[in-house]
Amino acid sequence: SAGVSASTGSRNLVEVLKQTNKKALVFYGSQTGTAEDYATKYAKELQSRFSIPTICADLSDYDFDNLNEVHEVPGFTFITFLMATYGEGEPTDDAGDFFSYLDDECENLENLKFACFGLGNSTYEIYNAMGKRTVARLTELGATLIGELGEGDDGQGTMDEDYLAWKDSLFEVLREELHLEEHDVSYEPGLAVIENSALSSESASVSLGEPDSKYVNPQSEEQLRALTLGPFDHSHPYLAPVTSSKELFNSETRHCIHAEFDLSGTNLRYSTGDHLAIWPSNSLENTAKFLSVLGISEKKDTVIDIKSLDSTVHSVIPSPTTYAAVVGHYLEISGPVSRQFLKMVVPFAPDAESKSKASALADSKELFHNEVTEKYLNIADALSYISNGKPWSSIPFSFVIESIAHLQPRYYSISSSSLSEKQTVHVTAVVEWERPNGSDHDVTGVATNLLWNIQLEQSGISKVKPPVTYDLEGPRGKFAPLKLPIHIRRSTFKLPTNPATPVIMVGPGTGVAPFRGFLRERVKQVENGVSVGKTILFYGSRSSKEDFLYKDEFPQYSKKLGDKFELITAFSRETSKKVYVQHKMAEKAAEIDQLLKQNAFFYVCGDASKMARDVQSTLVEILKSQRKLSESVASEMVRNFKVSNRYQEDVW
Ligand code: FAD
Ligand code: 2AM
Repeated sequence: SAGVSASTGSRNLVEVLKQTNKKALVFYGSQTGTAEDYATKYAKELQSRFSIPTICADLSDYDFDNLNEVHEVPGFTFITFLMATYGEGEPTDDAGDFFSYLDDECENLENLKFACFGLGNSTYEIYNAMGKRTVARLTELGATLIGELGEGDDGQGTMDEDYLAWKDSLFEVLREELHLEEHDVSYEPGLAVIENSALSSESASVSLGEPDSKYVNPQSEEQLRALTLGPFDHSHPYLAPVTSSKELFNSETRHCIHAEFDLSGTNLRYSTGDHLAIWPSNSLENTAKFLSVLGISEKKDTVIDIKSLDSTVHSVIPSPTTYAAVVGHYLEISGPVSRQFLKMVVPFAPDAESKSKASALADSKELFHNEVTEKYLNIADALSYISNGKPWSSIPFSFVIESIAHLQPRYYSISSSSLSEKQTVHVTAVVEWERPNGSDHDVTGVATNLLWNIQLEQSGISKVKPPVTYDLEGPRGKFAPLKLPIHIRRSTFKLPTNPATPVIMVGPGTGVAPFRGFLRERVKQVENGVSVGKTILFYGSRSSKEDFLYKDEFPQYSKKLGDKFELITAFSRETSKKVYVQHKMAEKAAEIDQLLKQNAFFYVCGDASKMARDVQSTLVEILKSQRKLSESVASEMVRNFKVSNRYQEDVW
């Protein structure tokens, strides 16, 4: 990760603060990059608005044993924590050690002043747990909270507004109560972008074009060995060949891609139920549009060097590189633009009219919602809308790198079994593509459209024209199998250790992905002479003809598993009244109850916003009616199943 430790070589907080003359700390616990992105912008604003030299760092970059001594650093102000909650109320990977320290080792934090913003998703049952836990534990240890805990909600799509509201009220407290002096903000670059510096074209070519060409273009035998040895993780993905891909839907308008990645020759391993992280690049269209609105299309291939101007800031973008490579491979340019970004970009507007239009949009929540959010504008769309197409040539490229979130991997539930597919990993991804009501342009997902392009390329289908296209040549290898950077993320979503334990799986839509892996695992076990328990899958989709995923595979699983396997389908758009998986569960109430009495494990995968909740309340209803229990006793029973891992969710 972007680490102070990487720059100063120390994990000692107090030492680094003293060495670098910094007066504030901003820590983030981030899984998918959102908390990191907010933290970076927040730290920058704190620094420029209040003239507090600030360090922004990943929680895993430091040791915490002298957290209670940071006030001894002359002029030190306070620490801010931006804490994401992952999945079912879990800490992000980088925050694990921090919480262990707080819970098991730390005794006293009475000298610490801190502020905290949590990033969560209210569609999950446990909401913003890590923000709450940070505040609760730190105050318990005697630390003082400045302002209030902010809670950002990704589920309601209000993260940006929640953040702005929290930040405004915190800054008010800093002014009024801590008497910190505020200034008008002006952009102070933390990075320098140097064009055509004295770089030999040879050294430049090393990192052109691809995300982290450290692993793309091995220069030496040593590097080549490192390529296949790993370890492969978040900071070192493996460039994996996509050996096979196919379309799973039977539709002109909707697409779902099954893709297989080859792991052979590496020591990359997964276990059934894990997630595959896929590192995408932006489409050619979105990259070109973005370069054009910045007015740098002409020089997009100019070699540039990115240098940090601050020993505590470390760019994760390998350089030398080019403008096009940075925009195409490292920046999240395709998603919705945020109001916060518009606020920051106002000073760089190309003329007075654009400047006032940009401030108006940035200052009004309502106007921004109606003119920007409702119209699905991304950064380039919004800038070009504001300036009537005039390029924003005075935006420094360092600002672009510092203010726009870094392109993050997308996670997919692995749909193969590590027992039956040892050397390959499969995923099942629905292509995100829509033309929103009243909008004049397509809105597309980055990774899923890339997977679709690869599938079309591999199958040689040229009559289908996807809404966006990608550079499938270069190091990805047009002639060799196409390659994508990947890594594995361990999950806790696992089959029971005893294969004889019955399982009930509920997975409508792409929620079927990990259950395909589970089924293949049990088929393999049967082939190995192991006897397996009852295996029930509730699957749902719109229709049996259009989007019945893996329709052709289920009969094969039945053949192997015999009466141990039962597939129960719910097609929602074949009848006048919608039929969902939970309706089918209710029909099978007695059988579900029986299996639970035999210690069956219950699994739900897919949509977190409604389906997972509906399924859970249906299970409560089933227990109520079958066992003549009260609502509260039945709910408590399901909660206990969750605690003992007999009820597991993989929802997004
Ligand atoms: P993104 O580029 O991330 O875009 C996200 C959405 O925003 C898209 O719908 C896109 O159309 C929309 N969008 C783009 N631009 C705008 C704009 N300007 N304004 C408004 N909206 C916009 N998915 C699966 O298909 N299968 C799985 O098995 C699976 N498993 C998952 C497991 C986990 C643990 C998690 C966290 C997620 C999982 N997902 C799965 C979801 C997956 O990670 C991706 O989020 C999904 O595929 C979309 O990725 P994308 O890059 O195509 O879209
Ligand atoms: P629908 O789109 O016709 O409403 C996979 O997406 C399947 O899940 C579809 O058949 C979809 O139906 C269905 N679905 C939508 N909302 C659901 C919910 N709350 N619970 C269960 N299934 C749902």
